Amino acid sequence: MAEKLEVPVTERPGMAAASPVTRHPSPVTSHPSPVTSSSWWQRTTIYQIYPRSFLDSNGDGIGDLNGITARLDYLRDLGVETIWVSPFYPSPLADHGYDISDYCGVAPEYGTMADLERLLDETHRRGMKLLMDMVLNHTSDQHPWFVESRSSRDNPKADWYIWRDGKGDKPPNNWIALPGGRGWHYSRERRQWYMASFLPFQPDLNWRNPEVKQAMWDVVRFWLGKGVDGFRLDIFSSIMKDARFADNPFSPGLHAGGIPGLYKPSMQLNHPDTFALARELRQVVREFGEPERILLGEVFGSKEEHRQLLGGATNDGLNLVFIFDFHFLRRPQRTARFFRSVVRSFERHFPPPFQPTYVFGNHDQRRLMSKLENDAGLARVLAVFQMTVRGVPTVYMGEEIGMTDLFVPKERAQDPVSKLYDWVPDWVRGWLPVNLNRDQNRTPMQWEDGENAGFCPPGTTPWLPVNEASARTANVVAQQEDPRSLLNLYRSLLGLRREHAELHSGTLTLVEGLPESVLGYFRHFEGRRLLVLLNFAPASIELRLPESYSLLLGSAPECELVPGGVRLAAKSGVVLQVQ
Ligand code: GLC
Repeated sequence: MAEKLEVPVTERPGMAAASPVTRHPSPVTSHPSPVTSSSWWQRTTIYQIYPRSFLDSNGDGIGDLNGITARLDYLRDLGVETIWVSPFYPSPLADHGYDISDYCGVAPEYGTMADLERLLDETHRRGMKLLMDMVLNHTSDQHPWFVESRSSRDNPKADWYIWRDGKGDKPPNNWIALPGGRGWHYSRERRQWYMASFLPFQPDLNWRNPEVKQAMWDVVRFWLGKGVDGFRLDIFSSIMKDARFADNPFSPGLHAGGIPGLYKPSMQLNHPDTFALARELRQVVREFGEPERILLGEVFGSKEEHRQLLGGATNDGLNLVFIFDFHFLRRPQRTARFFRSVVRSFERHFPPPFQPTYVFGNHDQRRLMSKLENDAGLARVLAVFQMTVRGVPTVYMGEEIGMTDLFVPKERAQDPVSKLYDWVPDWVRGWLPVNLNRDQNRTPMQWEDGENAGFCPPGTTPWLPVNEASARTANVVAQQEDPRSLLNLYRSLLGLRREHAELHSGTLTLVEGLPESVLGYFRHFEGRRLLVLLNFAPASIELRLPESYSLLLGSAPECELVPGGVRLAAKSGVVLQVQ
């Protein structure tokens, strides 16, 4: 039986409290602000491409830049406005490109500089933007800078990386590597330790050396000069470390993106000098004028640290930072209550002009559909959420067709994180909250049903196996033809978001007093209002609406307006327009 409840559709604080169904004193309101004549990057939608797995245009089993260019029409028709392309620089590929050995080049397996220029032109010709991935924190250990730096203690690049003497035969301090283990590694050549915030073959640059900063700013300018629209910044919070090299304090708990540890890595993460560096980098980017180029940070830390990285009240640091609160989506988190708490908290801490950048997946995390244990209804609810909540949505390629993870046994894994944890058996890995084999969520994009799912020509061996079982239904061709597919829901949502300034530029007010399973919020812009209602429950529900609405979008065919209200199908979402 459907439950009937009234939506307290007031936005005036106090009115909701008067409503008989209100359980909370007042709605949480975004700070009223003149906002909204916002810049392109505050309104945009982002689609992440992991180039190795997107489309192989030359039959070598590896995706490439021309493959991306070939599918720009797909992306434009889907309705995404900005693409972020993971690294395609020359690299020994120990971490599939996040270990760069030449910052101003294109790796041959991805194409040529001319291919990149064409990709940029074609992206811009379609009115879209392109963000590159920029790894400022570390280089590959094969980068000529590191090779030279390691060769002696007095070469010209000797101070370009973070070198220290140990304490006897122990490392200089207790700093860690983010994937686990110690951050310091001994070089026999130089008879000193170097710091690596990620894996041992990714030595951290010494950003306290002005020459390093200059060299990296030159890299940034090189790509901006080519016309890229900005950068996604890899592990940006790690860049500056404590200049005294003090130990991390003993503080058992979940640190750095929810990873358990005994010591809080506060001497090596979110140092105030990193906040200053964010501002400095923004100035470098601003040299290139309008339309503004942007900085999107991969950062870990508290909300306050996030705000500092964004430049504090003035937002003159990074433009945007990813929000990873949906990293795990364990069962209790797949609820209206959890989503409400996340939105409430970011509305408080990130009022306009700050824009939250909610993500459900990326090349490091399990795929959204797998986190949801294949709950297709919930995937649709979350799509409505992501495209209608205040902020910049970022979609990982394949999320729009509901791709799932593929089990890749550790013996066949290519991911260096999997190799690091080689001692953890496969059956244990499935139970761990952390993703120990990122191959599973990096398998090739599924364009069609059939051999290699259209990623590379038949007869070619793709660099990672195609998820054949998933590709049968989770593929672009099949879903394009099905009006009820997830792909078509994403397309409708992205279209709606573009058409309605309420969604891309408006403020947000949470509706309080709704049934436990329903999340609701208004989006307002210049006197116009949309109401979004999301039902997380496996049963339909009817809600009474005191005003009159039209239904702009329902994620399930059974969602409909009924006399005096709206019916939400089980696990569905609607977008309503106040008449
Ligand atoms: C970031 C990237 C990840 C990479 C790591 C080291 O977390 O997203 O893929 O392995 O940094 O660069």
